[in-house]
Amino acid sequence: RPGAEAWVPERVSLRSLHEAAQACRGCELYRDATQAVVGEGRLKASLMLLGEQPGDQEDRRGHPFVGPAGRVLDDALTDAGVGADDVFTTNVVKHFRWERTRGKQRIHKSPSQAHVTACKPWLDAELGLVRPRGVVLLGATAGKAVYGPSFRVGDVRGERLQWPSTLAVRRAPDWVLATNHPSAVLRADDRATAYDALVADLTVAASLLQ
Ligand code: URA
Ligand code: SF4
Repeated sequence: RPGAEAWVPERVSLRSLHEAAQACRGCELYRDATQAVVGEGRLKASLMLLGEQPGDQEDRRGHPFVGPAGRVLDDALTDAGVGADDVFTTNVVKHFRWERTRGKQRIHKSPSQAHVTACKPWLDAELGLVRPRGVVLLGATAGKAVYGPSFRVGDVRGERLQWPSTLAVRRAPDWVLATNHPSAVLRADDRATAYDALVADLTVAASLLQ
């Protein structure tokens, strides 16, 4: 069977996931990446933050959201009153997909639906391990991973959603909330407005945890 299932360890821990993901050959993305980047944070976190895939910095350093988008996310979490000790941060795809431009730069390329599907057993294991009360979907790739290809963040951002019954996981969260990806704040013409909208959505997430 294609996909990551065969590489996910029976005894799931943060350490076993991190180590086992390095050997994953569930799709071809491992070939051009430095390493697999699995989720990190508090094991008993009530909130899971779900991004797309590691970026250039994350691929080099081996941790999720440690680059420019991660700095935006950290600031927004602080401004929304979400404690860093109450989140677990991960991505729907664990290896960095990129293409080289004429220069030396590695340019991020969004993962395909096939990559997302192949990588889903790792997310499933993380959901079973952390058992978060809420999941915040950061951007379209995370949204489509959970709700399917027609999902649009703009249609439902900031609203309390249900985990879809069509996507079986070991442990579904009580609620889901979608917002823009923090990297969209960096690309926005009006950064301040985009940032404030991200903070507003994360504030809703914080209130759902009360
Ligand atoms: N963007 C993501 O979606 N995830 C990361 O870990 C970093 C950047
Ligand atoms: Fe495995 Fe996911 Fe990496 Fe593909 S992207 S090789 S499924 S860890």
